[in-house]
Amino acid sequence: MSNATSSPAKPAALTPTAHGPSLSAHYLASRHRFDNWNALKTATSKLADARGDTAVLKQEIGERLTKLAPIEAYWAFPGAEAFSRLFRWLEAGDHLHLAQTVHRICRALSSQSYRRHFIPLAEADHGDDDGEKKSGTDNRYSLHQGADRPYFEILIVDDTNEEGEEALRDGLRKARRPEDPFIYDIVLVTSFEDALIAALLNFNLQAVVVRYGIPFRSRRNLEVMKHCLHGLDEARLEAMAPAERALTLGKLIHEQRPELDNYLVTDTSVEDTAGERGSVFRRVFYHQEDYLELHLNVIRGVRRRAKTPFFTALRDYAEQPMGVFHAMPISRGKSIFKSHWIQEMGRFYGTNIFLAETSSTSGGLDSLLDPHGPIKEAQELAARAFGSRRSFFVTNGTTGANKIVSQALVRPGDIVLVDRDCHKSHHYAMTLAGANVVYLDSYPLNPYSMYGAVPLKEIRRVLLDLKAAGKLDRVRLVILTNCTFDGFVYHPQRVMEQCLAIKPDLIFLWDEAWFGFARFAPSYRSRTAMHSAKVLGERYRSPEYKQAYDAAENKKLLPDPARVRVRVYATQSTHKTLTALRQGSMIHVHDQDFGKVEGAFRDAYMMHTSTSPNYQIIASLDLGRKQVELEGFELVGKQIELAFSLREKIKVHPLLAKWFSFLTMGDMIPLEYRPSGIAAYYDKERGWSAMMEAWEKDEFVLDPTRLTLFIGRTGVDGDTFKKQYLMDRHGIQVNKTSRNTVLFMTNIGTTRSSVAHLIDALVDLASEFEQRIEDESPSEKAAREQAVIGLTEKLPPLPDFSRFHARFRDGAATPEGDVRSAYFLGTDEANCEYFRISESKIDEVTKGGRELVAASFLTPYPPGFPILVPGQVLSPEILAYLRALDTKEIHGYRADLGIRVFTEGALARPT
Ligand SMILES: Cc1ncc(COP(=O)(O)O)c(C=O)c1O
Repeated sequence: MSNATSSPAKPAALTPTAHGPSLSAHYLASRHRFDNWNALKTATSKLADARGDTAVLKQEIGERLTKLAPIEAYWAFPGAEAFSRLFRWLEAGDHLHLAQTVHRICRALSSQSYRRHFIPLAEADHGDDDGEKKSGTDNRYSLHQGADRPYFEILIVDDTNEEGEEALRDGLRKARRPEDPFIYDIVLVTSFEDALIAALLNFNLQAVVVRYGIPFRSRRNLEVMKHCLHGLDEARLEAMAPAERALTLGKLIHEQRPELDNYLVTDTSVEDTAGERGSVFRRVFYHQEDYLELHLNVIRGVRRRAKTPFFTALRDYAEQPMGVFHAMPISRGKSIFKSHWIQEMGRFYGTNIFLAETSSTSGGLDSLLDPHGPIKEAQELAARAFGSRRSFFVTNGTTGANKIVSQALVRPGDIVLVDRDCHKSHHYAMTLAGANVVYLDSYPLNPYSMYGAVPLKEIRRVLLDLKAAGKLDRVRLVILTNCTFDGFVYHPQRVMEQCLAIKPDLIFLWDEAWFGFARFAPSYRSRTAMHSAKVLGERYRSPEYKQAYDAAENKKLLPDPARVRVRVYATQSTHKTLTALRQGSMIHVHDQDFGKVEGAFRDAYMMHTSTSPNYQIIASLDLGRKQVELEGFELVGKQIELAFSLREKIKVHPLLAKWFSFLTMGDMIPLEYRPSGIAAYYDKERGWSAMMEAWEKDEFVLDPTRLTLFIGRTGVDGDTFKKQYLMDRHGIQVNKTSRNTVLFMTNIGTTRSSVAHLIDALVDLASEFEQRIEDESPSEKAAREQAVIGLTEKLPPLPDFSRFHARFRDGAATPEGDVRSAYFLGTDEANCEYFRISESKIDEVTKGGRELVAASFLTPYPPGFPILVPGQVLSPEILAYLRALDTKEIHGYRADLGIRVFTEGALARPT
């Protein structure tokens, strides 16, 4: 690839890796921390009880403490002082205090109680065994008393000595006030390297204060955390002037954790960097001694994110006494609490939900259809959180969101490229909009009966064919699913760049129904639509890009900076991966030309939105946004950690590994789309760090939080495994299966115990399969072996889209089809007839040369997307696939009649 495509606007020193730290950074660091503290707990209690060889135990404890020391420096709890006390107790032989304190720290870390109350760790504080201090001098504790205030940590980056540190802590402690809505503790680091690591690891951080004049190098041994710094241009950073280094640190932290508030403290004038500084630092302080100002700013910054305009308005509204004279009997619970027959509804849901139910758009509330108050503000905050220019709440899911976007952008006759296995809402949207659709085939994964994603070369080929046919001006939109249900993640920057090189004003709709959480993990963020749009927008505006473009000999992959427009939309089911009530979704927009379509967008929004939108859903979207801005980084990081640990457990457990395996990138992504060559998340030589490279280079990667379990060796098919084995016996729910796989999804609510429950269940099932083998008769054995062959070898090949019938293509040489006219032709029963898939009549007519053409959508579950759309030719491959499917659920198929196709007469009649 030419240099010009690799972000010429950005200096190399600012790129730790193209996509930030490894996905596994959290996993490694937190496992390292967790394992060492737990081992310390065991060793110190043995030592205190004089069990085992004292010398060996002391050595182990010393080594564990030494391993933990570098990582503990990035967290406020237990803190440097308490930690060094552990070393002292070890040396002094005070084994009892050592064991008690380690125990207390472990408990506070695993229950996170240190975020709720002060944990006594100093010698003088001991004696209260429940870990809660009843009285004390610690300022954090005394301010926390009686209040349920959220806790966070501030990272202070300052090359200071112990005295300086004490002054700083003291200054900030004095600035705190009892009326502060939050409490915080401080993590102090003294170098650029340490600051970056702390920002990447410490999920308690909400603010970073960078002191001008910090050195680059850490004084610590960074061995364990070195992977966080992968790719930094160290020589350049070391040689940098202090002001530039501080600014660079701010930029890097902002890039990795955009939700944090950064502050710069300086003694010198920094006017010369004012422009750049503004986007990175919320404020600049000229005297560090101004602690009260700093304190007030930090609190105000966190408050900005903690604000929930609509939820607050709704709660206030619910609390007001109100006479209801509009239509809505459940408003204020009136029709429920006075009912003689449905009291259980009130008991089950409680009072508040009804107090908050209203159709009023006044009284402090707002209208979703024409927002000017708290809904408008809540949407603006969502735009900030999700990195869009505009965000819109949608109360009927991404099903509605997709229709709104397509309806707003597509005019009848426009050509739209749509990934073939997209969600059905896109097909319906195309029908409504009257688009001419070109379906893009994803690569098939026949061994697992699932589709992958659409290769970039296929998208480019279609665009170039349309260009050759002189139709490029009609091509309006590309719709792709990122990530797919099965977890295939595109490289949106690369896809958009290469498409824009062919058609510079192309619009993109990325269906991120499953990817709302992705923005909150630095590595995932780079593969989201909004982040990619921002990067591309900045790139094409930069003089460096123009120069690189002008100088490039081969411009085939480079959009023309004079013509390119960055027009990107993303739809997200907030309710699927983040906190929101069902159907709570968002549309995020980064469209340079939004002004030109805003009217159409508003109309489309009205067209697909109920005039009675649900306020509870809107309030939940507002709260979900607050959550991700304050703890998205933590929750998503933990979600990834749990998914990694689940993968690892299956791999290392001999019984589980015999019956089950999680599919890897090597299994699901052909090598041609994996230039990194990396096949698995974990690799013996490179450990987990190989992932970083895959996310940087590969055309597709797998979202590690979605785990596809291969169950072919059990001889049980996916659907039966899901219903009879997981659900009925173990109460485990999963969404999706293929013939021989079951998809497990982790989410921000997944807990260690739910992962443990799943592992126990799988061990149970594996033991049952073992037992069955032992007990089986020869004929049962033969039946089982046949079933395994059926699930591992004899899988029906997945068919391509086939094509639209010529009647719906206007005889064109290119593949676009008018799905709307096909749909409406099919709404008249007189134009349709039916064939049963199982019957030979269908073969007889096709052998006779007749093409059968679908008159309606046909969607088998799984895979869950239309295998036929109106106007599509039923190819022999699709027929064979339908016959081989053992699924009972096929939407659009009438068991009594069969598949609905057009009569020959209907197809012959001119439009
Ligand atoms: C890729 C994709 N897009 C859109 C949707 C529809 O989302 P919602 O359930 O929020 O309407 C789904 C639902 O599963 C989906 O998988």
